[in-house]
Amino acid sequence: MSQQQEQVPAGESMMTPDAIGLLTADHRKAKSLFDEYEGLKSSGSPEEKFEIARQVCGELLIHMAVEEAIFYPAVRQHIRDDDLVNEAEAEHEGAKELIRQLGDIKPDDPIFDAKITVLTEQIDHHVQEEELTMFPKILLSGIDISALGKELRTAKNDMRTRLGLPPE
Ligand SMILES: [Fe+2]
Ligand SMILES: [Fe+2]
Repeated sequence: MSQQQEQVPAGESMMTPDAIGLLTADHRKAKSLFDEYEGLKSSGSPEEKFEIARQVCGELLIHMAVEEAIFYPAVRQHIRDDDLVNEAEAEHEGAKELIRQLGDIKPDDPIFDAKITVLTEQIDHHVQEEELTMFPKILLSGIDISALGKELRTAKNDMRTRLGLPPE
């Protein structure tokens, strides 16, 4: 059952970021977690590494799910560049496969660090494509990015609630 109400207080609705702001904030959050993991590589404990990996993988899975369900279909409809969205979805599949593989590796295995490094590089590339190519195109398309931001935030918070995470 959704906890979202039809009417939100004016102050709260003004604070809802638009779609580009929300997705960009997610990208920065993932980057800062990847940076944190990088700092743990040489001397962090397996438990510390696992905790950061768990957080970044969870955030990425939620982010990718709402992009695929809400943002990419809107991009397809408004900018008519299927190649761009097909490539983005293929990159998501690659990232999800790496995340699946991480689930089978213990964090004290050097392969765990290697997989996180590859995931960091792949996400870095993917984020650049979105921020430098896809987002400018969507901004020029005239789509209502404010309404799209509200949809994304509702979907993210529904997922977070289902996963037992606090809403944003
Ligand atoms: Fe993204
Ligand atoms: Fe993406």
